[in-house]
Amino acid sequence: MRLDIITLFPRMVSSFFEESILKRAQNKQLVEVHFHDLHDYSQNNYGSVDDYAYGGGAGMVIGIEPVALCIEGLQKERKYDEIIYTAPDGELLGQGRANRLSMLDNIMILCGHYKGIDERIREHFVTLELSIGDYVLTGGELAAAVISDSVIRLIPGVLSDETSALSDSFQNNLISPPVYTRPVDFRGWKVPDILLSGNHAKIDQWRYDQSIERTKQRRPNLLDKE
Ligand code: ADE
Repeated sequence: MRLDIITLFPRMVSSFFEESILKRAQNKQLVEVHFHDLHDYSQNNYGSVDDYAYGGGAGMVIGIEPVALCIEGLQKERKYDEIIYTAPDGELLGQGRANRLSMLDNIMILCGHYKGIDERIREHFVTLELSIGDYVLTGGELAAAVISDSVIRLIPGVLSDETSALSDSFQNNLISPPVYTRPVDFRGWKVPDILLSGNHAKIDQWRYDQSIERTKQRRPNLLDKE
């Protein structure tokens, strides 16, 4: 997969890809991530990319020209399966969407900005608008990192044990069961006996029951999903 992230603040998001599983995924050449600074596409001598809003009002708006130049430059090189815009009023990111995105080859993510972005960019270039939750961030950089993380970890080979992604919370619309490791007794807080029993059929059943119970308690809405 190739991921192109367009942002006013490349450093805000690029460091996130320099550690742990995302870094290993790049080293293994399972994903390529490229960052593009919108300032590099400025059409004036000051390097600015925003301008006053037509009709007045507070705040500047990111103009269409630098964004169009950047997107069209990338599109000349390859076809993009999805051009994502991060915005609080987009579709709420869920595991199903992450699964579908993980099967694509080329994804562009345009980070939104608190100042706003010319609406024509959304109308004419963007194919998918995603929100990571019902709260407002100062910009789309964190959202781009969250979206990328949820997608990259699902690419086959990224996680050392592929089944660990399949058994994640939300993959079956169920919350994951609790897990434990040594010591078996910490200050009298004990690991459930069933997990020490060696009876794998019973352990699987226990885990499933725990998943159902936790989902009912914590996220009952998931049980109604298809
Ligand atoms: N930009 C600002 N807030 C956001 C959110 N909740 N999700 C995605 N992008 C955003």
